[in-house]
Amino acid sequence: MKVLVIGSGGREHAIVWKLSQSPRITKLFCAPGNGGISSLAECIDISATDLEGILNFAKQQQIDLTVVAPDDPLALGLVDKLEENGLRAFGPRQAAAMIESSKVFAKELMKKYRIPSAEYMCFDRYDAAANFLSQVPFPVVIKADGLALGKGVIIAFSREEAEDAIKAMLLNNEFGKAGERILIEEFLTGPEVSILAFTDGKTIVPMVSAQDYKRAYDKDRGPNTGGMGAFSPSFHYTPEVAEYVEQHIIMPTIVAMSQEDRPFQGVLYFGLMLTPSGPKVLEYNARFGDPEAQVVLPRLQTDLLEVMEAVIDRQLHKLEITWDDRAAACVVLASEGYPGSYRKGLPIKIKEQPECLLFHAGTKKTKQGLVTNGGRVLGVTALGDNLSEALQKAYQQVGAIAFEGMHYRKDIGKR
Ligand code: AMP
Ligand code: GLY
Repeated sequence: MKVLVIGSGGREHAIVWKLSQSPRITKLFCAPGNGGISSLAECIDISATDLEGILNFAKQQQIDLTVVAPDDPLALGLVDKLEENGLRAFGPRQAAAMIESSKVFAKELMKKYRIPSAEYMCFDRYDAAANFLSQVPFPVVIKADGLALGKGVIIAFSREEAEDAIKAMLLNNEFGKAGERILIEEFLTGPEVSILAFTDGKTIVPMVSAQDYKRAYDKDRGPNTGGMGAFSPSFHYTPEVAEYVEQHIIMPTIVAMSQEDRPFQGVLYFGLMLTPSGPKVLEYNARFGDPEAQVVLPRLQTDLLEVMEAVIDRQLHKLEITWDDRAAACVVLASEGYPGSYRKGLPIKIKEQPECLLFHAGTKKTKQGLVTNGGRVLGVTALGDNLSEALQKAYQQVGAIAFEGMHYRKDIGKR
């Protein structure tokens, strides 16, 4: 089988790495891929949002399965386009991907189907939103409706901060179309857990739990990033919590999407907060999380291709999916300045340690060797009999990697 993976980050490297173990795959492509993916798959210079380019390539090469990993092409309807042309694709169709691409849609869905989540109000006019601020306690959470590269969520601690945020979105158009509608949401507290699940629209199989670290610096300081590290399983996600979440959040979401005529097939990501009044949904993603994929996929024992095909063919109920009992930890190495602006093209030195997995995110292979090519550069993952062993191995490998300005969190798995 010929398989094409869309995307270029650490998540895509983890997906390609896992698929490369499948005995039925004869050839792997990745568009556009990166410097690490290129050792497992042929990287094709087509952008993840070039729908025509991807379709033409898949037709020409007679690709048997295209795996759409990032949010943008899912929201643009890449899966629909491939399917309309008789090609097989893994990922939700555009109508189902809306659970991530419109936060307003997701909130209305949760309200209608009584899925626990923060209280909210939706606005598309500045005056009305600003007036509403006089009635709310602070902090309050302001969210742009659409996809905003993880920058569309602002926790405002004062009325001034909240006004600045809604001004940026509704008046100054700083978030483009994504900020034409906004949510003003109740501020929740508690530990966060990421639950990813495979679903074919009827059956849903939660994966092992994970926790990610969104802030740039230790002790959860600094700006939000795409994710600076992760580990699995989360110690907060006890069997009791899992049972509650499956019954009150996971199953009702799948039923809701089917009833709305938007059956969800693919990976559905539940970003949860375990609040004092029970687990609540912060956000849905219509795909694997990154870096969560880098700790969850190394624990998957079942052939990922088998799982993806069962999802597409709506046969997930027939498949037994098994997991490695060991813990996994991932430390992300980032460029100086990330998540702000950063330099590219800096040489990377790596002394590879046994028992570690290096998932490349922003790297490029050049004649001079491997160089940096993004904000998040590498994800260093290790498995261990327990979390501390996994962390110890991962940080040991981190110590054997160097590039100018490299920064990473030293407290992954500590809190
Ligand atoms: P999101 O992109 O919706 O996951 O939001 C990014 C981050 O903002 C989350 O991981 C939380 O840490 C935080 N966040 C989002 N919504 C809320 C909320 N209602 N209360 C408190 N924190 C929130
Ligand atoms: N790690 C969060 C995300 O992938 O959106």
